[in-house]
Amino acid sequence: MSTMTAAQLAAAIPKAELHIHIEGSLEPELIFALAQRNGLNLPYASVDALREAYAFTNLQSFLDIYYAGASVLLHEADFHDMAWAYFLRAKADNVVHTELFFDPQTHTARGVPMATVVRGLASACARAQAELGISAALILCFLRHLSEEDAFATLEAALPYREHFIGVGLDSSEVGHPPSKFSRVFARCRALGLHVVAHAGEEGPPAYIWEALNDLQTERIDHGVRSLEDPVLVAELAKRRTPLTVCPLSNLKLCVVNDLKDHPMKRLLDAGLCATVNSDDPAYFGGYMNANFVQTVEALGLSRDDVITLARNSFEASFVSEARRAELMAALDGTIAA
Ligand code: ADE
Ligand code: ZN
Repeated sequence: MSTMTAAQLAAAIPKAELHIHIEGSLEPELIFALAQRNGLNLPYASVDALREAYAFTNLQSFLDIYYAGASVLLHEADFHDMAWAYFLRAKADNVVHTELFFDPQTHTARGVPMATVVRGLASACARAQAELGISAALILCFLRHLSEEDAFATLEAALPYREHFIGVGLDSSEVGHPPSKFSRVFARCRALGLHVVAHAGEEGPPAYIWEALNDLQTERIDHGVRSLEDPVLVAELAKRRTPLTVCPLSNLKLCVVNDLKDHPMKRLLDAGLCATVNSDDPAYFGGYMNANFVQTVEALGLSRDDVITLARNSFEASFVSEARRAELMAALDGTIAA
């Protein structure tokens, strides 16, 4: 690996992906195939017409299309096939561990049982381990534009499948729905021994990151790019070593940054934060893990050391056993030394 450029190294090394909404991996081709399989009509004439609609101006403009795309998922096999397609892409990008977000309320609101969602995704995770050697786990996200009462009902509905998910997260429309809206349900999740993470500081202000840390006691912050606006917060994140699951191409496509050259990833690393690279919703934002990694390295001129730090951060931030973490770190060291 010693002759490789930083970008080549980024693509080649083993890494973990910790911020991927599995519904955001639904490619237009699969949306059309599932619509046909399930006898559903789509409001788009073709795969190309659907893809052309992927011109977003902010988070909400994306979410409207993302929830519409997810409406083709009805049966256990649909959830399995969606996740399996993602795992094949992850394997190609040398992702060796991944933690998948899923949005059950998007499906249960359409009458799809929780069991269908969880069983379809969990069987794909087991298959990824068995056939691809990728360790995979599920994180249940509450939709923050809905009420905390709805989140509590979702948690209750999911508890019969407790062994299939390792934690909870908070996603959807950020501004106007601060983390503190979900303090009670997150307290309950922590008491149940679930890992807790939340999207914060994607479009929302640094105050939302403080709330995620202090009110929800989250172990990671998803996005968190706006933390740089608050030096006290940056110092706190560095002190706690709270990981940030950063998604560069998402930030570009949702106009959080205007150019990848302006992306804060380098500044986050230089501030000593445990930042990681992730794809968020790869089917919608133009790239999976390695596209995010390589384009960020090239746009910001990241060094080989930065690349290795990002991969190490991804394993440090993972919710794995210490034995698995040691195995992942050793695999990284072995690849670099080769
Ligand atoms: N759901 C899927 N992708 C998301 C994102 N980037 N932010 C908030 N909610 C999401
Ligand atoms: Zn996200």
